[in-house]
Amino acid sequence: MKWHKLLLALGMLAAASAALATPATDELFARYKSAGAAGFDAERGSKNWNREVQGEAGEMVSCTACHGKDLGKEGRHRKTDKVIKPMAPSVNKERYTDAKKIEKWFKRNCNDVWSRECTAQEKGDLLKFLLGQ
Ligand code: HEC
Repeated sequence: MKWHKLLLALGMLAAASAALATPATDELFARYKSAGAAGFDAERGSKNWNREVQGEAGEMVSCTACHGKDLGKEGRHRKTDKVIKPMAPSVNKERYTDAKKIEKWFKRNCNDVWSRECTAQEKGDLLKFLLGQ
């Protein structure tokens, strides 16, 4: 009985950690580390993801402005109204599988929301948070 529970717990642990990385994100975490970042933190990533800043027209925006509050659901582009597939890798297996794509959108979206590029630390924290969804 005890062993059974232990095996179950280990199995769940393996399943959970499998979702926490892809070859693409392994590559990016290594790149961010070599840029001086360390100790990637999902909690900090979550705060940044939800942090609201003032947009061009005075409105408050965050990463959720297009991706929505529930990462397991579709989002909508706040300017074009186009549907954006769920960001959570638990429901969308195509997420975070292409390092080039991830970097391209970090660049574009950080500039869009924060009016600057994200640092290696911020990107690592955000990825850690997103991978856990
Ligand atoms: C103006 C709308 C908009 C905002 C705001 C926005 N995004 Fe995005 N994001 C997109 C679109 C469009 C895509 C590409 C379509 C897709 O991947 O489904 C995307 C894709 C991404 C991807 C690539 C995911 C992958 O599978 O490779 C990441 C990472 C990302 N966004 C992070 C962010 C972060 C971090 C913020 C906040 C700083 C943010 N986004 C804010 C529209 C937005």
